[in-house]
Amino acid sequence: MNALELNSIYKTFGALPALDNVSLSVPAGSRTAIVGPSGSGKTTLLRMIAGFEFPDSGSISLNGQTLVDGSTEVPAHQRMIGYVPQDGALFPHMTVAGNIGFGLSGDAASKQTRIAELMDMVALDSRMSQRWPHELSGGQQQRVALARALAQRPRLMLLDEPFSALDTGLRASMRKMVAKLLSDTGVTTILVTHDQSEALSFADQLAVMRQGRLVQTGQPMDLYLRPHDEETALFLGDAVVMPAWVENGYATCDLGRVHVSTTSQNGAAQIMLRPEQLQISSQAAELEQVDGCIGVVTDRDFGGNTCTLTVELKLPSPATDGQSTSRSLLVRSSGVHAPAAGTLVHISTLGHAHVLTEPARRQAVAAP
Ligand SMILES: Nc1ncnc2c1ncn2[C@@H]1O[C@H](COP(=O)(O)OP(=O)(O)O)[C@@H](O)[C@H]1O
Ligand SMILES: [Mg+2]
Repeated sequence: MNALELNSIYKTFGALPALDNVSLSVPAGSRTAIVGPSGSGKTTLLRMIAGFEFPDSGSISLNGQTLVDGSTEVPAHQRMIGYVPQDGALFPHMTVAGNIGFGLSGDAASKQTRIAELMDMVALDSRMSQRWPHELSGGQQQRVALARALAQRPRLMLLDEPFSALDTGLRASMRKMVAKLLSDTGVTTILVTHDQSEALSFADQLAVMRQGRLVQTGQPMDLYLRPHDEETALFLGDAVVMPAWVENGYATCDLGRVHVSTTSQNGAAQIMLRPEQLQISSQAAELEQVDGCIGVVTDRDFGGNTCTLTVELKLPSPATDGQSTSRSLLVRSSGVHAPAAGTLVHISTLGHAHVLTEPARRQAVAAP
């Protein structure tokens, strides 16, 4: 069953469309991540679900209850939706306990028990309960904001870039902690982020947003391997995109003959591979192989656990159709055995190339 349904939401601020025909279904108990560049409308969408903004048209329902449509507007405080805004927004004049217990009802003793329970849930030391927000680190402030939102036993949790102010290590551990906590409590969650790796690892469902529109929605791995267009491909990671002739499950391109994941698309097309689908070898025996193709390493970008190489392909014949005769590719290699610039390498492909369905605007290899 779907917990949340958004149908054709439109919102403009002045003349600027912030949300343009957004429809989304969020299954009960699932984790959905919404990714998109800054200004694409992510926060506006969350605020609308929470009830802090209202659409110009369209409808929203939660567990079958209409929250907003042409004739209904359920106010934010009656929606039972938890919202952790981008900056945490703790009340600065209240202690940790005061912030977490803000909306709790009941007597002092039961409130105190519940606050202790919530602090334990978000792994905050109970000795911090009397601290002020300015005495907490960024990660601790986010935990308090999360506990405050959980205190209301929300039907839906909305998280707006909750990890963006944290440093890399803390960010990963907070993300794991929050993901586990939310799945243990079974709360349906929407996470907004501009960080694609965060979204890919957090979500059951991923929605990509651009200029107020949801351009593609699906399982994270599906979107990563089968994006509709080049822009989405590049938003979710590095990609190698090149023109090809597609026929009967194969693409003929500058990499030679490559399997594609479809047999229904034929003719001239753009194909996409992820850099980790390209394998290189500098062994003499492999350099003589007929499959795959040969290139020269022109750049080596050492990134610790992996190394990204730029490989210039050696194309067999000069172009007769006015197209470029050189093509460079991004290839992922282990940092330990990465060949140096100038090395001749054999390139083969792993898995299937994906045929992009939207028309391409560029044809060369590109990185974000
Ligand atoms: N209250 C507002 N008044 C006017 N323009 C707004 C308002 N809120 C958002 N916008 C505009 O709507 C667009 C989407 O903003 P936002 O939802 O904050 O994007 P994101 O969270 O993806 O960065 C931006 O162009 C932003 O300037
Ligand atoms: Mg935002």
